[in-house]
Amino acid sequence: MIRCPTHGSRNLVTSMSALTPELLLLILSRLAQGQPVALEDLAEHAAVSSETLVAILPELVDHGVRQRRDGSLRVPGGVDLLDSDRIADAVRSTLPKRADIKVYGVTGSTNDLARAWIENGGSAPAVILAEAQTAGRGRRGRAWSSPVASNVYLSQIEMLAGGLQGAVGLSLATGVAVAEAIEEVAAVPVALKWPNDLLARERKLGGILVELVTSGAASRAILGIGINVRVPAYTSAGIDQEWIDLAQTSRGRVERNLLAAAIITHLSRMLERFRQQGFNADLRRRWQARDPFFSRRVVARSDQGEIRGWGRGIDASGEFLIETESETVRVGAGEVSLRLEKQA
Ligand code: BTN
Repeated sequence: MIRCPTHGSRNLVTSMSALTPELLLLILSRLAQGQPVALEDLAEHAAVSSETLVAILPELVDHGVRQRRDGSLRVPGGVDLLDSDRIADAVRSTLPKRADIKVYGVTGSTNDLARAWIENGGSAPAVILAEAQTAGRGRRGRAWSSPVASNVYLSQIEMLAGGLQGAVGLSLATGVAVAEAIEEVAAVPVALKWPNDLLARERKLGGILVELVTSGAASRAILGIGINVRVPAYTSAGIDQEWIDLAQTSRGRVERNLLAAAIITHLSRMLERFRQQGFNADLRRRWQARDPFFSRRVVARSDQGEIRGWGRGIDASGEFLIETESETVRVGAGEVSLRLEKQA
């Protein structure tokens, strides 16, 4: 999980750098096959001077780019770029058509693209992914830093009946599906910190931002998911929370296309059930089994103050239960942040 104060900057490392996300993606695309490319050829491909390319080389190193003795550049092992055909081939679900999976290069936010897709009459289900976001959004109005070709930024659009009421528990159910998908692909145990932070080794591995677009009784849900796969070193400057990526937790390289396909598959399966039964006992049990705060001292903070007590899991509508000295209090997601008491 990455929240970076320099988020608004168009440059990647410092405000002096010439390396924009678009330029970086252009360079990485040319190096994707893993073959060496002469510096001059790469500069021409990226429409910059050789001097500019040399100046930004230190930043490229964080993306695996290496310079060889003859001056040429390569990424050993190639670059794992997103590919909608590969994702579609690996999806094992009822998701209907290839056309429903769209991969963008650099965009503002995949959730915003999803909203535009809905407003322009696009079909559902549909999935939008991007190589980078320049205005990625997290919960509680925070920025979600989204470096190029490093992580998964995915928004899945799904039909829902029953307006707002039909979405009760949806973000928790989404957490269950995504946690199961990550475990399948990356073989790392994933916990769910209420309401829906994805944790590995007690650090943030990913986040979920569910948004609804409602018209009458029908809604479309946008399930926005960000997973840290290989966070480049420079992005970690300014991160205000303990985070982790799959490169640290998993043996071998986790392929982003396979991870995206597993997420889409698990979300689609979950949604099939959710549409019929809502946040049912089975989903609630699967969520509870991943709750790292169960029977631990917690503190919930909001603008209204704080509540301290023992974490007691969730109720049928997904609200978090805290047992205080005098009563059991229900906490709704909204603007609340939940922490272990010792970290408070
Ligand atoms: C959180 O605060 O934990 C939620 C982060 C959600 C980030 C994802 S990345 C894909 C989608 N697009 C966005 O702008 N946000 C979500």
